[in-house]
Amino acid sequence: MLVFNTVEDIQYHIYDLKSNGKTIGFVPTMGALHEGHLSLIRRSKAECDITVASIFVNPTQFNDQKDFDKYPRMNEADSQMLEKSGCDVLFLPDVVEMYQNSLLEVQPFDIGYLDTILEGAKRPGHYQGVATIVEKLFLSVLPDKVFMGLKDFQQVKVIEKLVRDKNMQIEIIGCPTLRETNGLAMSSRNMRLSEDGKQKASDIYQVLVYIKKHRTKDNPERVLAQAKEMIASKGYWNLEYLELRHAHDLSEIDMEQWQEGVNYVALYAGWLEGVRLIDNMSL
Ligand code: PAF
Repeated sequence: MLVFNTVEDIQYHIYDLKSNGKTIGFVPTMGALHEGHLSLIRRSKAECDITVASIFVNPTQFNDQKDFDKYPRMNEADSQMLEKSGCDVLFLPDVVEMYQNSLLEVQPFDIGYLDTILEGAKRPGHYQGVATIVEKLFLSVLPDKVFMGLKDFQQVKVIEKLVRDKNMQIEIIGCPTLRETNGLAMSSRNMRLSEDGKQKASDIYQVLVYIKKHRTKDNPERVLAQAKEMIASKGYWNLEYLELRHAHDLSEIDMEQWQEGVNYVALYAGWLEGVRLIDNMSL
C-alpha cells in the first residue's frame, strides 16, 4: 500500500493511474477503523481498479472541542488494517496540509434544509465542516466512486447534494451498516464505551427493530411514542432525537398520510456514558 501525506503527491499519483484508464474508488475516514470501514474497502475493491482510503480527523466538523480531543487516533494500527484488507493507497494528510493557512476556515456551502434538522440542528456547523473537508478530499483523490456507511444516513444525503451542486462526476454509494452480534451499529465511538455500555447501547437497535416490526399505516405515531418510552424507562439514555422521516430527502412525514410502499427511515441520536451514538433503520 502506498501512503501519501500531501495533496500534490497523491494527485500526481492519481493522474498517472487515470491516464492509464484506472477507475478510483475512495473510502474517506477519520480512522479508528473497524469491520464497517473494511466492508467499504471490500466493496470498493470489487467495483473499482484502485482503492484509496483517507484518514483525517477533521477539526472543523466537531462542534464540541472535547469530542474532537477524545476522538480515537491510531494511525499505525489503522494502516496495518488497510494494508491487510488490500487497500492500494492511503492518504494521510495533517491539518496544515488540508487547511493551509486558512485558519480552519470552512467553505460556506448551501446545505439547505439538511442543516436545519436532526444532526444539522443538534450539531451546528458540523455539516459545513464535513462538506469543506469532503470537497478538499475529493479534489485530492479525484475518485470515480465514493463508498460511505449508511449509519451516517444524513451525511450521505449532504455529500450527495455537495456532488450535485458542484457538478462533480462522482458516484456516492451508501453502504449498509455493519452491526455487532447484539445489534449495536459498528462505530469508532464504540471504543469509548465500557463493556456494560456496549450491551446497553444495543437498546438503539432494539427500539429501531421494534418500530420496524410494529408500525402499520394506522399507528406510526403511537409506535414511535412507545419506542421513546422504552428508551426513557432505561434511565441511562440522554435521548436527543428519535424520529421517523421520508428516506429520500429526510423531510417530515404527515402521519395521517402514511403509505405502504413509501420509503421511511427511523433515526436515533442519544448519549450514553458521555458518548454520542447515532443509528437508523429503513422501515
Ligand atoms: O464519516 C466520517 O468519517 C467523516 O465525516 C468524513 C466523511 C471522513 C469527513 O471527515
